[in-house]
Amino acid sequence: MTSFPTATSNSTTGGRLIYGCMGLGGSWDDAPYGAAEVDQAAAAIDAARQAGIELFDHADIYRKGKSEQVFGDVLADAPGLREQLLIQTKCGIRQAGDGLPGRYDFSAGHIMASVNGSLQRLRTDYVDVLLLHRPDPLMDLAELAGAVGRLLDEGKIRALGVSNMSAAQISQLQDRLETPIVANQLEMSLGKRAWVESAVLVNRDEDFAAGFPHGTLEHASSHGIELQAYGALAQGRYSGMPAQTAADVATADLVQALAQGWNTTAEAVVLGWLMRHPARISPVIGSSNPDRIAACADAPRIAAEMSREAWYALWTEARGAAMP
Ligand SMILES: NC(=O)c1ccc[n+]([C@@H]2O[C@H](COP(=O)([O-])OP(=O)(O)OC[C@H]3O[C@@H](n4cnc5c(N)ncnc54)[C@H](OP(=O)(O)O)[C@@H]3O)[C@@H](O)[C@H]2O)c1
Repeated sequence: MTSFPTATSNSTTGGRLIYGCMGLGGSWDDAPYGAAEVDQAAAAIDAARQAGIELFDHADIYRKGKSEQVFGDVLADAPGLREQLLIQTKCGIRQAGDGLPGRYDFSAGHIMASVNGSLQRLRTDYVDVLLLHRPDPLMDLAELAGAVGRLLDEGKIRALGVSNMSAAQISQLQDRLETPIVANQLEMSLGKRAWVESAVLVNRDEDFAAGFPHGTLEHASSHGIELQAYGALAQGRYSGMPAQTAADVATADLVQALAQGWNTTAEAVVLGWLMRHPARISPVIGSSNPDRIAACADAPRIAAEMSREAWYALWTEARGAAMP
């Protein structure tokens, strides 16, 4: 049992849980899904809603469109459900096929076709948020802004966000857009820590922060851009999946001890750690297991109650080294 203090209530935590739909829809190939996958999606959506989640995250490419399609099936079976949810999807990644390489595509033609395909599969007239999935180095900003403007004017999307973008990329894009960028989705977790390492490794040689440009979090906070964390459960590394390293074992043990002491689940501790950060991070939960989804529901409480000492203890254990 841990001796860490448990209740230092603070007002800076926040964010919300988001349900990530990448696990729904069966296989990643072209094979069609069946009734079992529709039932699985219905159960996952129900578990997510029971956990207080209203925002559901998609992408045109998840399971070759089948994640959106199976979600659309569930919506079609439940009249009125669409209006009770927020749906977010993504565009701009083209997977390899037809002899062409995997690539990024922010051309107007691809974006319009992608959104129309998503709406058709989801069986809805609009998505609440469209995210640009990963920057296309060949993007023409004026062309992109024109496509986004058309989608907004036509009511097919209600807001725009981005994913996997740095502060500099967001600023450049925002300069050309009339609509505010409302979210940036990035991989952030207790397992993927470059987002927080970058805050303390200025002037240091350690490479823990590789891949996360300085200032991305701060820029989002200052501009009211919601930070969404994908891979937030670290694919179960600290909550039941076999550990890979000594640091993982020690961290999983600490997570478990804290969960017991706080009368909660390991998942809530892992997500609560992320949500304790004042940038108001919203974890995207990728489990399709209803019990695991339910196990995430306590994360906001844990974030609100997690002491500074417990937060640093978890981070130090996960990095396997003392703070610089
Ligand atoms: N923007 C982007 O570029 C991007 C990239 C990747 C993902 N995403 C979004 O983020 C969401 C979450 O991403 P993610 O799925 O990679 O991350 P995650 O939520 O950290 O991991 C979920 C995966 O880990 C498994 N898992 C978790 N805990 C487990 C445990 N204790 N034992 C066994 N398996 C466990 C889940 O299996 P079960 O289903 O069996 O629970 C599921 O396959 C996706 O659904 C998607 O919406 C966005």
